[in-house]
Amino acid sequence: MVSENACSKHVCVIGAGPSGIVAARELRKEGHTVVVLEQSHDIGGQWLYDSRIETEDALGKANPLKVHSSVYASLRLVSPREIMGFTDFPFLVKKGRDVRSFPGHKELYLYLRDFCDWFGLRELVRFNTRVEYVGMVDVSEFGKNMKWVVKSSERGEKVVVEEIYDAVVVATGHYSQPRLPTIKGMDEWRRRQIHSHVYRVPEPFANEVVIIVGSSLSGQDISLELVGVSKEVHLSAKSLEVPEGLSKVISKYDNLNFHPQIQSLNEDGCVTFVDGTSVVADSIIYCTGYSYSFPFLDTKGIVMVDDDRVGPLYEHTFPPSLAPSLSFIGIPRKIIGFPFFESQAKWIAQVLSGKRTLPPWDEMMKAIKEFYQSRDAAGIPKHNTHDICDFEYCDKYGENCGFPHLEDWRKELCLSALRSALINLETYRDTWDEQELLQMAHQSNHFTQLGPENV
Ligand SMILES: Cc1cc2nc3c(=O)[nH]c(=O)nc-3n(C[C@H](O)[C@H](O)[C@H](O)COP(=O)(O)OP(=O)(O)OC[C@H]3O[C@@H](n4cnc5c(N)ncnc54)[C@H](O)[C@@H]3O)c2cc1C
Ligand SMILES: NC(=O)c1ccc[n+]([C@@H]2O[C@H](COP(=O)([O-])OP(=O)(O)OC[C@H]3O[C@@H](n4cnc5c(N)ncnc54)[C@H](OP(=O)(O)O)[C@@H]3O)[C@@H](O)[C@H]2O)c1
Repeated sequence: MVSENACSKHVCVIGAGPSGIVAARELRKEGHTVVVLEQSHDIGGQWLYDSRIETEDALGKANPLKVHSSVYASLRLVSPREIMGFTDFPFLVKKGRDVRSFPGHKELYLYLRDFCDWFGLRELVRFNTRVEYVGMVDVSEFGKNMKWVVKSSERGEKVVVEEIYDAVVVATGHYSQPRLPTIKGMDEWRRRQIHSHVYRVPEPFANEVVIIVGSSLSGQDISLELVGVSKEVHLSAKSLEVPEGLSKVISKYDNLNFHPQIQSLNEDGCVTFVDGTSVVADSIIYCTGYSYSFPFLDTKGIVMVDDDRVGPLYEHTFPPSLAPSLSFIGIPRKIIGFPFFESQAKWIAQVLSGKRTLPPWDEMMKAIKEFYQSRDAAGIPKHNTHDICDFEYCDKYGENCGFPHLEDWRKELCLSALRSALINLETYRDTWDEQELLQMAHQSNHFTQLGPENV
């Protein structure tokens, strides 16, 4: 719903990753005053590569964590650069930089830096500032006129700064806090156990027998990297349905073996799988995913994380009882991230200014309940509540704030890359060839809008 009654709010955005910086841009555009609090020394979030993992707990059990980024040195984008860009700032090939269709992580960091420079966003960010606490100023005051107290501290300083904001946008990401399985004998196993959050380079695993737990993207990527240096790599998966691409690499490398789930770990280094087979290993790398975690957030129990379901959140964004003054960006997974974050930012900015209104509390709660019921009925585990995998949802979401539908070429390029990865896991990033679609993308307004000198 659109209304005429626009007003400006004092908004705190937590995090200067892709979600936080686009939030800052949209909030400022809508006339709000914005302060972005970022614990790191720079923007980029996950894309700000951090090699300092020696201080991090190997299984990442510490909360809060010391290192935010889980990105490893060799990581390349999973999708072509063309689909990544925010709607008004294409992810262009730049001379002297990583020009590949699926560039390494640094190129995406540089893109985000370019985005901040282009829109003058750095001045809105207070770096090296970690948010320690966010809570309501007056607990009895739910709804529109709520205020929030934000307590933060500068790196190396003991002083806690307390500020009051009209609204808080949480944009802290969710790929840092390891999600670990419970395996019999895990606490007694004395050899190396790490989570992929602290994996950076293959060298420490040279000539070792390594077990990789989890066969999704981190598990696949790290296994492929280790087959070149480790003695043996054993990939343990929950599902025995192996996609063609993974199956091809398993048959190609003699030192790469596939196993079902682990049954138990024994003190002598023996790892036993549920089919009764076993391997004596030097290291285990858990590539078992990440959990949502908001250690700073005190909502008096209104927003909870239950088995990775963050809720209740209307459209993964607004907790009905605290909306619109508390909101979240970047919770959904399995979407084309950056444009979706942008649409979330736009909607939040417009609701805060009064340009748009949210449905009444009971309608939002009903919609959330129906959504949960539909996920349960479809047999989707609770921990995958925020997996979207649906372009139509993203388009419909955008209609909340007049955000354009995803371009057809963006959707097609995304699907094409996903298909290629399933078939040619090892080589798809360098062999993928979609000239016609790419031409369509490059001729679209998205790529030409900044003028010929920027193409
Ligand atoms: C290994 C890996 C590979 C990935 N590959 C891809 C890919 O190929 N393509 C893709 O689209 N996505 C990929 N992703 C997903 C990636 O997380 C998103 O692209 C994107 O970074 C999400 O942006 P965000 O801003 O929501 O969160 P983040 O990038 O995580 O940024 C959150 C920011 O919040 C800050 N922060 C957190 N807590 C606090 C606090 N208490 N106080 C102050 N600041 C705080 C952090 O320091 C960080 O800067 C990958 C993720 C991982 C882990
Ligand atoms: N750019 C890239 O190339 C790249 C590389 C790595 C990661 N990423 C991104 O980073 C994010 C995280 O990816 P991720 O691979 O780290 O995590 P993930 O996608 O959450 O996958 C974790 C996997 O581990 C499985 N698992 C959990 N417990 C297990 C157990 N006990 N035994 C065997 N398997 C178990 C999970 O199965 P269930 O889900 O059934 O529990 C799931 O398949 C994703 O968004 C991904 O796209 C991108």
